[in-house]
Amino acid sequence: MKYNLQTGEFYSNVEDVEYATKYIKDVISIYEKPEVAEEVLEQVTYEVQVHNPHGEIEGALQFGTSRIKAGDINGEFFMTKGHMHEVANRAEYYLCLSGKGLLLLMDEERKTTAIDMSEQSICNIPGNVSHRLVNIGEEDLVVLACWNSDAGHNYEQIATEGFSVRVFKTENGYIIKEV
Ligand code: F6R
Ligand code: MN
Repeated sequence: MKYNLQTGEFYSNVEDVEYATKYIKDVISIYEKPEVAEEVLEQVTYEVQVHNPHGEIEGALQFGTSRIKAGDINGEFFMTKGHMHEVANRAEYYLCLSGKGLLLLMDEERKTTAIDMSEQSICNIPGNVSHRLVNIGEEDLVVLACWNSDAGHNYEQIATEGFSVRVFKTENGYIIKEV
């Protein structure tokens, strides 16, 4: 198997790769103002592909790509759902392949740090930290990730309490608003 560092695609004898597509309708509840036209709900907002040959084995690693489309919902930029790991102490590496984004990292005291992500930006996400990618650019934001196979995803806390900041479009770029 091969991995294209330009596009973030696995190719050639692709095995043990899982693909997931998120539509706006799947994640609309994460936005501050979720009122949108019916046809917007059917649009793709991000795609994930993950190579995990060993299943959820302690000590094993998985590796994948997240591709977040450019766009916004009533001025709030497209973003991932955001999560902490189910095994909360599991860390993760993110490496940006292309695009322009912010990586929001929120600790257990709800303090959020926004890390700039552009080509070649690399970030070590510590355990016990919620993380979300926000596409603040006009192209796809493509990010490679590597983390423990047994980490899992805990979406509950973010679904109920959200992050402590939101990122909105402005005339010249973006603004991070505390909520
Ligand atoms: C895995 C990880 C990424 C995300 C992906 C989608 O731990 O951080 O692969 O899962 O960027 O984001 P979520 O899972 O928040 O919808
Ligand atoms: Mn993660």
